[in-house]
Amino acid sequence: MSLATNFTELFSTKPEIICEAPGRVNLIGEHVDYCDGFVMPFAISDRTYAAVSRRQDRHIRISSMQRRNEIFETTLDDLKPGLDGKWERYICGVIWAFGNQITNGLDILVDGRVALGAGLSSSAALECSVALALNELFKSKYTLPELARLAQRAENEYVGMPCGIMDQSVSLMAQSGNALLLDCRDLSTEQIPIDLAGAGLELLIVDTRAHHALVDGGYAERRASCESAANKLGIKALRDCSIAQLETSRSKLTELEYMRAEHVVRDIERVHECVVLLKQSDFSAVGQILTQSHASLRDLFEISCPELNLAVDTALANNSLGGRMIGGGFGGSAIALFKVADISSAKEAIAKAFTGAGFNEPRFFTSLPSSGARITQQL
Ligand code: GLA
Repeated sequence: MSLATNFTELFSTKPEIICEAPGRVNLIGEHVDYCDGFVMPFAISDRTYAAVSRRQDRHIRISSMQRRNEIFETTLDDLKPGLDGKWERYICGVIWAFGNQITNGLDILVDGRVALGAGLSSSAALECSVALALNELFKSKYTLPELARLAQRAENEYVGMPCGIMDQSVSLMAQSGNALLLDCRDLSTEQIPIDLAGAGLELLIVDTRAHHALVDGGYAERRASCESAANKLGIKALRDCSIAQLETSRSKLTELEYMRAEHVVRDIERVHECVVLLKQSDFSAVGQILTQSHASLRDLFEISCPELNLAVDTALANNSLGGRMIGGGFGGSAIALFKVADISSAKEAIAKAFTGAGFNEPRFFTSLPSSGARITQQL
């Protein structure tokens, strides 16, 4: 049964609009978005769909195809940051962030097809699908960068997760066949063509199914170290620092701040290098950069975990051109670049290594760079 039909069955009215927004993988530029850095993620083909209809009163009802017997209910007047709740908070946060532009209550049914807890930004996909629908229904006329900031504010202030701007931006602004080079300071973008298929390559995504709890403090702590380092260096954000400047100012920082800052400054450099290499279709050099980034996330930023390291190491031992953990860290997914012919034996090797280590069975995905959010259907 389609999302629209389910909506009608559940809410006894038709949806006015269905919007979709994708999850993402990040090729390079990790934990640098909140340092005003450059990142280069791309949208995956898995997406979240939000069917929405305005109501005559101020009630809000939210449900999902994955849990159709649960309806979350609140009202426009009861939305307040920090409210307990589960995944519905991400939607409530978006409605809240639109402020008094939302003049009617809402019925919302979501079909979330981005794997949860895999570090593929299911939360940004959820926020952005709903944000796009509300932007259209209430004629708010926000641009895509403005919508990305709005969704980020929902997550920062309403949900309480101090994320950067990368996930929402790529979910909204990605284009099929391209990675998105994003300047996280002004949200200007450049689409970077990435023809993996043409080069006979595929990007394997390994969901380690290890616990991924960004809201648990590790993420916020890394962000705080980076901000404190920037403060002590007298700059607005670590983006404004070169590696030479960082080295000469070493004594101003604690050992830990220096390690965090070194990762950030070098990973931003790696993004720029990667852009050049992609334009030359030099994928083996791109692979090496991914592997360097992994080492930096593991050793300097200290956000990897045994499952992520095993996924990357086993990929490398099985002909991968390069790979790394992606996203917030402490679990979630790793990516590894392969020739198509090498993928299936690598998957087997990774699954075997995980069994041997007593880890959860990993899940595998592949995805070519896909398109960003769009209106799926206006009814
Ligand atoms: C999470 C956050 C992003 C970004 C990444 C790390 O996905 O939501 O803003 O900081 O971690 O690069």
